[in-house]
Amino acid sequence: MTDTPTVPHLVLGLETSCDETAAAVVRLAAGQVEVLSSVVGSQIAEHAPYGGVVPEIAARAHVESIEAIAGRALRDAGVGYDELTGVAATAGPGLVGGVMVGLSFGKAVALARGLPLVAVNHLEGHAVSARLGAELPYPFLLLLVSGGHCQLLAVDGVGACRRLGSTIDDAAGEAFDKIAKSLGLPYPGGPALEALAEGRDPDRFPLPRMLLGRKDCDFSFSGLKTAAARLAEGLSDEADRRDLAAAVQTAIARQLAEKSDRAMHAYAIEHHGRGLRFVVAGGVAANRTVRKKLEETASARGFSFAAPPLAYCTDNAAMIALAGAERLALGLTDPLDAAARPRWPLDAAAAAASPTHVAGRKGAKA
Ligand code: KG4
Ligand code: ZN
Repeated sequence: MTDTPTVPHLVLGLETSCDETAAAVVRLAAGQVEVLSSVVGSQIAEHAPYGGVVPEIAARAHVESIEAIAGRALRDAGVGYDELTGVAATAGPGLVGGVMVGLSFGKAVALARGLPLVAVNHLEGHAVSARLGAELPYPFLLLLVSGGHCQLLAVDGVGACRRLGSTIDDAAGEAFDKIAKSLGLPYPGGPALEALAEGRDPDRFPLPRMLLGRKDCDFSFSGLKTAAARLAEGLSDEADRRDLAAAVQTAIARQLAEKSDRAMHAYAIEHHGRGLRFVVAGGVAANRTVRKKLEETASARGFSFAAPPLAYCTDNAAMIALAGAERLALGLTDPLDAAARPRWPLDAAAAAASPTHVAGRKGAKA
């Protein structure tokens, strides 16, 4: 990891891009990462009646809780504002009303305390999240799977990502959420569907395999979603619903593994078979069937496998603080007029050449 041994960074991270208000304090010293605190205030109860995240409700809830949650993160860490060396806030992509809340709060802290500000790309946060649990040097191949994103990226270093593949319709987490809804499960659907599928037969319901003939690393979940919703309509028996949940989970895991396998093959050639590391991050990385299938795929291709600790798979501020600290270590900071960005692809060049994003729960994907 790139860091100056003598300069420890103590960073307050803020995350408000979707339905979690989160703050954390992370220390980065001599390449060692220490999470001193991580507080996540979930808004699930506020959005549950609507079956998904309502942007206006999210933004208002962030305003109401950001100060208290940041205060708690500092208290839990035993750190005062005056001991911080920087503030890192998510500046996009995400629901822009919410992003503005955390970013503005971060700017206020930076201004009041004379601290450097880092405007962090939420996806860069997910990209470094596995480094919160274990030492993981750059470069690595990353599968980023969450409710808003589904991409394969070659991560060469801090902020240096190349996109190898992306979804052409829904993100994997979005597919979990929507299919869960058609099975009558509450939001967020992914964890609920995993619980329903526990110990069931994944082979009873045949589901379509998407984009099998294509040679690229792109994903598609819309056909699976439609087929599963149609099957779910006719089911009243609990055992049937549970088997369908297992079939869906396995189908999603299989597609993630197939496309990751393709990307690993290309990545291994590019890297001459050396230093092969595969990382999965994002909310869907919390799914045990997905993790297991990806771990097997990585092992078969000669890649090491890493995934964040479960608490850092879904949205959190520790990953934002770490992404900020890594940038601070390189002297990369942002001005106080840094903009909140609803869209912000990690690999701007690939996104411009092939804009695979579509409208969805969080609007356009990066
Ligand atoms: O990373 P995240 O918290 O937010 C985004 O940046 O999108 O990911 C949330 C997504 C949701 O779609 C949720 O259903 C999914 O991750 N998820 C899961 C599991 N835990 C969270 N999907 C499948 N299995 C899980 N255990
Ligand atoms: Zn996320």
